Amino acid sequence: MKRLLVVDDDARMRRVLEILARRIGLDCTAAAGAEEALGSFRAERSDLVVTDLKMPGKSGIDFLRELREIDGEVPVIVLTAHGTVATAVEAMKLGAIDYLQKPFDVDALEAVIRRALDLSRFRLENRFLREQTGGGARLGELIGGSAAMAPVLELIRQVAPTRSSVLITGETGTGKELVARAIHELSPRRDKLFVPLNCTAIPFELLESELFGHVRGAFSGAQADRVGKLQAADEGTLFLDEIGDMDVRLQAKLLRVLQEGVIEPLGTNRRIPIDVRVVSSTNRDIEKALREGGFREDLYFRLNVFHVRLPPLRDRAEDVVPLAEAFLAEFARQLGKPGLRLAPEAAAALRAYAWPGNVRELRNLMERAAVLCRGEIVWPALAGSSLLAAAEPQRAGPDRLNLEPALRDLERRLILDALAASDDDKLAAAELLGIGERTLWTKLKKHGI
Ligand SMILES: Nc1ncnc2c1ncn2[C@@H]1O[C@H](COP(=O)(O)OP(=O)(O)OP(=O)(O)O)[C@@H](O)[C@H]1O
Ligand SMILES: [Mg+2]
Repeated sequence: MKRLLVVDDDARMRRVLEILARRIGLDCTAAAGAEEALGSFRAERSDLVVTDLKMPGKSGIDFLRELREIDGEVPVIVLTAHGTVATAVEAMKLGAIDYLQKPFDVDALEAVIRRALDLSRFRLENRFLREQTGGGARLGELIGGSAAMAPVLELIRQVAPTRSSVLITGETGTGKELVARAIHELSPRRDKLFVPLNCTAIPFELLESELFGHVRGAFSGAQADRVGKLQAADEGTLFLDEIGDMDVRLQAKLLRVLQEGVIEPLGTNRRIPIDVRVVSSTNRDIEKALREGGFREDLYFRLNVFHVRLPPLRDRAEDVVPLAEAFLAEFARQLGKPGLRLAPEAAAALRAYAWPGNVRELRNLMERAAVLCRGEIVWPALAGSSLLAAAEPQRAGPDRLNLEPALRDLERRLILDALAASDDDKLAAAELLGIGERTLWTKLKKHGI
């Protein structure tokens, strides 16, 4: 039988929770304060902890901090008095997975507890998965072995299984949507829908009905019932892309939904309870929008429980080649061109480039290169000639005048150029170079081409 540990200084509340635990089929231990709870947790581990935040003596936050030293993973639900959401947010940062505001109804608490128990099973599976895949440089489809990405991937791993809102910021093409999907896939919600909604350039009325849904006749043009994205994402994840562009009036409505967990489709007064996890993104300077009043502060705090900041690609140079190789392999598969690979010169050129369009630009470039390339190697010329020009290798240092390496270098480059010019046809390239095909093959081998 699974064990629930309840921590609350209010005897009535402990009683309610004990009854509820019995109903769910849990073994329940109750403690009136933090010290007592820590003692009994040390004596016997629980599978789930429900704790009040405001207690005489040690607070719920301090309790949580000490509990985390004993056990980094046990799911914790916090109960908080009305109007202390800030503390609840602090608790979420310490790894609480959910919070309920008092007074709450028992059914809501039961739902939260059941979800948490699912989660502890899910975490075990996840840990298993992580051990299998080795963690580290990859997270699902996300590639990121660079130093700049390590803390980002770690944060994603930590927040994904929770219910907390996540705000993802970063320049265009840095992978915000991919991260949002990874968060969904690594959460217990992965069997439900991931529903993206782009808030840019959609007029207020249209976005409103996209979000909330409407019934036929709710406004002129509403010819049929329509389920809103919020409802479609019930038990799943709603991804609000470019949230910084959302109309301020809609921000107010969205905030209410997030607080109450209820939507009212347009043209109805039905109230439909929903359970969505919201992940949002923006490449606008949202902090500036906040200062200037273009974005509601209260909504910002709701959406920004965790903040994933994606660094631009130029700050993660170590990732460029692994990304390029992964994209190349992907397009090679699609195009039926097995064995496509990057020439070292191409790799060097890619590394030296500044990538204003970030990962998307790199991906598009590799797609073009894969389509154009007929041989087995992506020549720098195919990987974008402007790139190559930018990264022409510069010889420097004391060996600059040494003839041997300079000649080898020149020979290599002439061979590569000839191959590029002849579409990788060896005989034609040999002719261009004025040497025999057999000699060319020997030189290719020598240069590792
Ligand atoms: N770390 C990564 N590993 C593998 N692929 C990536 C990574 N980051 C981004 N990509 C790929 O790059 C492309 C752009 O990513 P995405 O659409 O998520 O960017 P974005 O930040 O949402 O851009 P925008 O701000 O323009 O909407 C996608 O094809 C995505 O799969
Ligand atoms: Mg995007």
